[in-house]
Amino acid sequence: MLVPWAVVVVAATAVSATSTAWSSLPIDLKDKARTRTSRDVDSSALPDFDVLDNLFAALSDMQTTYFQNWIGTWPDAIDWTRAVMSTHVSAALRTISDEFELSQPGGGVVGCVLGKEEVVSGYFADIIGYYFAEDAFALRNQAYDDMLWVVLGWLEAIQFVDEHNDFFSNSASTAGLPSMPGAEAWYGNRWVPAFAHRARIFWELASKGWDTKLCGGGMVWNPRLTPYKNAVTNELYIAASIGMYLYFPGDSNTSPYVSSATSESAPCSPSPSPSPSPAGDPNSTNSQGWPARDPRFIVAAQEAHDWLTTSNMTNSAGLYADGFHISGYTSGGNNTRCDERDEMVYTYNQGVLLSGLLGLYQAALRDGGSGETYLREGHTLIQNVIRATGFDLEHNRPIDPIVPNRVPPWRGLGRVGVLEEACDATGECSQDGQTFKGIWMHHFGTFCSPRALGSKSGSGFGSTSEAVRTQHEAECRRYIPWLRHNARAALGTKDDRGLFGMWWTAGLLGLRSTDAVDQAGDAEPFPTSDDGNMVDYRNRGVPHNDIWMGVVDAISNILPREASAKHGPARAQQKPLKVAGGGSGPNGSPSTTTSTRTESRSEPWGSRSQTQSSPWDPNLRGRGRTVETQGGGLAVLRALWVVSRLEV
Ligand SMILES: *[C@@H]1O[C@H](CO)[C@@H](O)[C@H](O)[C@H]1NC(C)=O
Ligand SMILES: *[C@@H]1O[C@H](CO)[C@@H](O)[C@H](O)[C@H]1NC(C)=O
Ligand SMILES: *[C@@H]1O[C@H](CO)[C@@H](O)[C@H](O)[C@H]1NC(C)=O
Repeated sequence: MLVPWAVVVVAATAVSATSTAWSSLPIDLKDKARTRTSRDVDSSALPDFDVLDNLFAALSDMQTTYFQNWIGTWPDAIDWTRAVMSTHVSAALRTISDEFELSQPGGGVVGCVLGKEEVVSGYFADIIGYYFAEDAFALRNQAYDDMLWVVLGWLEAIQFVDEHNDFFSNSASTAGLPSMPGAEAWYGNRWVPAFAHRARIFWELASKGWDTKLCGGGMVWNPRLTPYKNAVTNELYIAASIGMYLYFPGDSNTSPYVSSATSESAPCSPSPSPSPSPAGDPNSTNSQGWPARDPRFIVAAQEAHDWLTTSNMTNSAGLYADGFHISGYTSGGNNTRCDERDEMVYTYNQGVLLSGLLGLYQAALRDGGSGETYLREGHTLIQNVIRATGFDLEHNRPIDPIVPNRVPPWRGLGRVGVLEEACDATGECSQDGQTFKGIWMHHFGTFCSPRALGSKSGSGFGSTSEAVRTQHEAECRRYIPWLRHNARAALGTKDDRGLFGMWWTAGLLGLRSTDAVDQAGDAEPFPTSDDGNMVDYRNRGVPHNDIWMGVVDAISNILPREASAKHGPARAQQKPLKVAGGGSGPNGSPSTTTSTRTESRSEPWGSRSQTQSSPWDPNLRGRGRTVETQGGGLAVLRALWVVSRLEV
């Protein structure tokens, strides 16, 4: 019998109003039943089905609570966070499909459920619904990072279909079926061309953000603001480009968008110029459709990676700062160097790159190289992140003790071993900030998945040498205690409806009042105001100053596209989905304060107010529980399940 650690967590959560249960937590961490030393015990070699159980519940709660089938979307999310939510659902489906073989005796309740194809198909139907609900038109006019989340989302869906199809075509359940037209492949295959088309369109649009006039290269974040070259847009471009190289199956649909090119171009803009493709590739306006394995994708990914790694964007802790402004740009100086760094550190900026690095490794292998340095770069980044959460990988425990009703010290990207956003403790995360940790976990899970180095030799990938695989998997295995600690914290934030909160650390701390949190907030080195070199624009909004919004008109000199015709920050143009009968955002009106983000409200599906009957809940502050925080819970559990399969 397994020691069901998740049950331990649930029990601990139930007594969170008392302090005694918490002091023993670090010890719990050490005596996990499923360490390598207990492998000789038969049952310990089984996967931990409680994790799968919780993963499944997180997915189910996410879709039941936040997804509205009749409009095919998560109405309370915004365009880019919806793209991320679809990515989480597709990724969870990949994982669940992967585990169909576990639906044998010993798989428990989840195992039984997994035996049912309709579970996977049901959630895949949500993804199909979302394909039509995705506001592709609005996204076209947003920032380059927004577009690239779309690409990653559909590439994830394509990979899910590929993998599930493999299972389906090899499955005993389909063997012996009479052969009928269409019966040879899982039906999801029929959607791949549509997903591929959407991915291709958005990659093409986003690639226009690549610019060599400033900083010697790099993606611009937002064509409507003073040029800002940030980590996330460049990491996304790397991950999306190499993902297109590896997984895009080609697109013979030459329609630029859903309808014709002219009707979809912004009405008052000149016709789009040809893409300044990083590859300088004459094929960039290919009217014959796009081939798979187009070299332009790998060239773009490598070029962006080269630029990022030489851009001086990592700080002294080895973490990516947010990005670069160009000093003097507003005052008409001739400086073109990226020399004004915004020191703000967000979790997701340490994550998206991991998928890119894994892809670059796979591509290098395919092209006969070794690519090992990409893996090493990824492990270094992961270890820097873990260290910055205040976790000691040598001893598998947080460096600080958990003291009841006290918030432990901030360690750079978390505290007491748990990943944390700077906005979490104070409850000030925006809809953007609420999405970040889940993104980190998603890309980390991809990087350290047992599938990462590929059983792909049959499909044109080179094969990983045993030495590289052993090394990579040994490194990934080292992260599991930390990952388990984080999943445990996240599970501790669930409310009685099973919904995850945003501030995972709170799931470990027996916080009973706002006092402890206030004290911690006062002591932290977070920006309390926008001080120039550390601006939390993702949570507080883009400042209306010269650095950010000074020379909007000048951008048309750099970026040859219609986007600059529309001024104002991207977020303000984001139209919240209109939902008859409730749930829509605050009318999408551009804010005149420093907050330029259009957020949707979290009622009625999101947060609830504090009630007298339950203990004080720090995760009800701010935006409360939302689809974004649920996506984070789903992502950390999936990462734990996937990576901990390396232990089995
Ligand atoms: C353009 O596309 C064709 C067809 O896929 C390909 O053979 C050719 O190499 C591409 N050209 C460049 C410069 O990549
Ligand atoms: C930039 O402008 C300054 C003064 O306006 C001038 O002294 C300097 O040589 C210029 N630098 C370059 C690289 O053109
Ligand atoms: C890298 O960025 C830091 C922080 O802005 C700066 O202090 C340092 O001088 C930069 N290094 C180089 C080589 O530009």
